[in-house]
Amino acid sequence: MIKVIERLSEWKKIRVGRLYAKKTFGLVPTMGALHDGHAALIKKSIKENDITVVSIFVNPTQFNNPEDLKKYPNTFDADLELLNNLKVDFLLHPTYEEMYPYFYDYKVIETNFSKTLCGQFRPGHFDGVLTVVLKLLNLVKPNKAYFGEKDFQQYKLVKGMAEAFFIDTKIISVPTVRTKDGLALSSRNMRLSKDELKTAAYFPQILKLKLSDEKIKSLLEKKGFRVEYIEQIGSRRFGAVYLGNVRLIDNVKI
Ligand code: PAF
Repeated sequence: MIKVIERLSEWKKIRVGRLYAKKTFGLVPTMGALHDGHAALIKKSIKENDITVVSIFVNPTQFNNPEDLKKYPNTFDADLELLNNLKVDFLLHPTYEEMYPYFYDYKVIETNFSKTLCGQFRPGHFDGVLTVVLKLLNLVKPNKAYFGEKDFQQYKLVKGMAEAFFIDTKIISVPTVRTKDGLALSSRNMRLSKDELKTAAYFPQILKLKLSDEKIKSLLEKKGFRVEYIEQIGSRRFGAVYLGNVRLIDNVKI
């Protein structure tokens, strides 16, 4: 049975306890609304570590748009059932007050890559992500932490932060899990209508075509997407689009 921890003081005692002194820890940070993409991260952690800790914390500092934060799906009961079925050891489910004892007076800012791609359109987003991930890494002290490739820029920035600050956690990326027709799984997909879900599947299909970024952008617009950015960096093409007011991101190797 999973142990749900809401008080960080309780967690800190458990973490230094003799019971876990020789165990390896894997961390899967999430904001809940769990799907098969999260399950893939969790399964990998369970395979590679003695103890798996999942966190569910909807981190307000990474939402540049307050409406997006308000609408972020909450499926806590189903999440807990999934975590139990997967045999996760611990769920960290702290409050904002616990996670931000100094509010947001202290933060982590990366000044280069975080200003590109999604960072250009979501000011402060990656400051919030890096800050909360650093807190979680310090709390859990995991040997390994797992991040999905759908958020490739996030994965790269977290990996860079861990290296820059000499954090002894291996940051591991896990391939994107997709539906049959190729749509990357995302908690935000829950906000798409049936028709929008069908249209959304064109996003990765078009993104991976061997055409210029400009051409990809115009093909997506023809399908009804509002394109925020399409940009190829090396052999990977990144994109962010809107369907209605739902923002989708993806990236593919080309
Ligand atoms: O990818 C996410 O769900 C979040 O950005 C993360 C890593 C849990 C930090 O809040």
